[in-house]
Amino acid sequence: MNKYQKEILKILPPQWEKKKIEWHDFLEKPKDLSQGDYAIACFRLAKDFKKPPQKLAQEIGKQLKTTKLIPRIHVIGAYINFFIESTTLTQEVLEAALSQKEKYGSSSFGKGKTIVIDYSAPNIAKPFHMGHLRSTIIGQSLYNIYTFLGFRTIGINHLGDWGTQYGKLIYAFQMWGNEKEYKQKGIPYLHELYVRFHKEAKGNESLEEEARKVFKKLEEGDKEIQKIWKIFKEESLKEFEKTYKRLSISFDFTLGESFYTDKIEAALKKIKDSKLSQKSEGALIVPLEKYSLSPCLLRKNDGTTLYATRDIATALYRYEKHHFTTMIYVVGQDQTLHFKQVFKVLELMGLQWAENCIHLPFGLVSFKEGKMSTREGKVILLKEVLDKARDLALKNIEAKNEKLKNKEEVAEKIGIGAIIFGDLSQKMMRNISFDWDEILSFEGETGPYLQYTYARARSILRKSKEKPSIKNTELLKEELELLLIKLLFQFSETLEAVLRFNEPSILANYLLDVTKTFNRFYLHHKVVTEEAELQKARLALVESTCHVLKNGLGLLNIPAPEEM
Ligand code: ARG
Repeated sequence: MNKYQKEILKILPPQWEKKKIEWHDFLEKPKDLSQGDYAIACFRLAKDFKKPPQKLAQEIGKQLKTTKLIPRIHVIGAYINFFIESTTLTQEVLEAALSQKEKYGSSSFGKGKTIVIDYSAPNIAKPFHMGHLRSTIIGQSLYNIYTFLGFRTIGINHLGDWGTQYGKLIYAFQMWGNEKEYKQKGIPYLHELYVRFHKEAKGNESLEEEARKVFKKLEEGDKEIQKIWKIFKEESLKEFEKTYKRLSISFDFTLGESFYTDKIEAALKKIKDSKLSQKSEGALIVPLEKYSLSPCLLRKNDGTTLYATRDIATALYRYEKHHFTTMIYVVGQDQTLHFKQVFKVLELMGLQWAENCIHLPFGLVSFKEGKMSTREGKVILLKEVLDKARDLALKNIEAKNEKLKNKEEVAEKIGIGAIIFGDLSQKMMRNISFDWDEILSFEGETGPYLQYTYARARSILRKSKEKPSIKNTELLKEELELLLIKLLFQFSETLEAVLRFNEPSILANYLLDVTKTFNRFYLHHKVVTEEAELQKARLALVESTCHVLKNGLGLLNIPAPEEM
């Protein structure tokens, strides 16, 4: 809570008509800052007091006394609106932004808390596709924001590298594959083999059985089978690394599902000791119908383990190792049932921390038209998407700023910015349908629009004769200036809101607000004016905006080129 919020809570009466009120729960931020900086909405309260909300707001509002920090209180409808004192605020915000620079907005909000984030998690020997992209960029941005707000954050890439599917693939490779072709074509070749397996298995049931046998051998440590599996894994990691590098993604740990094979027995024993598991048709399960869930399958009748078994062993290991406050799994919504089952088993094992495990699902991505249409039914490869975004961005640059240095490099940054922002500006659960022209446009609600505004603001600072100064910030009196300052002030609160809902789109949309407001300010007011002191103060505002944009974009993992 900042000092203005604290002051508002002090102004409000602790009791009303002999009932204690937790004002904190009712304090909110109006959508439109011209209505007030903070507001108390009286709807819910009105029910308690059995009064129309407007009337209650009026009655309470009448009693409140303004203070130096909160010089205006105004009741409209059911809202009591509070305005904060702008001269002190201006001075404080600009001073903080200019001195803290790349740290502006950070805090120790999460001190003492540990967050484990499980994200990206592609499957080896398979192409990295758009679904994994969403997990990767949502997860990385949450990782960045948790860290920025003082949490101890642990990012884990839980690679899919184990399971019957690898039995199928290895079998297919042994039957129809050869090393030479694999060396030439890489992962797409493995994918072809995998697809072929499924085709052939349709006409020949014994193949599934063969594949199971191969996976069993893999689990039992068969040297020959393990060798093939290792080659697949190494090659895949190299491929994934390229993508991660391009998107500036990094993890504290990259541990595949295979890492937990020697931890499965102990996990199963714990489940048995808690009297949860039972045999069913040769398989080992935890029945969950009491909780309206289908049973959690732990071991098949051939003795091999399952995805859920490995996730349970993984969670136990992670808790022992990291003692997390919260563990977040950023995984598509098609796995909702899986996580419900896993968390339920952990809870039934009596593990208190099970309630601190969160599955964070997200919607699907598709492309509206052109070559990459999802309607054709083929997987969309991330590499192709990033390449296309870069190429289109380059075309835009060529039309706009042909003389720009490092055009290719900037185009790559814009392409990546367009894709990431296109994703993160949408509520996570929404299915997104990308329109290439739309996401790459320099105008409208896009990544390139934010990047472009940042680059333009930076060029103002580079070209101006005066230097930014906070000596005379009281000269900033225009409505748009004050609005922009208030927005900059809200950066830190916005980040806290992102974490409350684990929703990066809150930050993306806040940055859009900052950008739009900055552009309006710049359109209506000259920064480089004759009056030197006003110019310096306005430059301080421009520089502060730059810090917020750059830090905010950085937290979303979007690069901010200095020139565009
Ligand atoms: N590899 C899985 C997939 O692609 C995602 C793994 C998510 N993490 C986890 N702990 N289950 O579907």
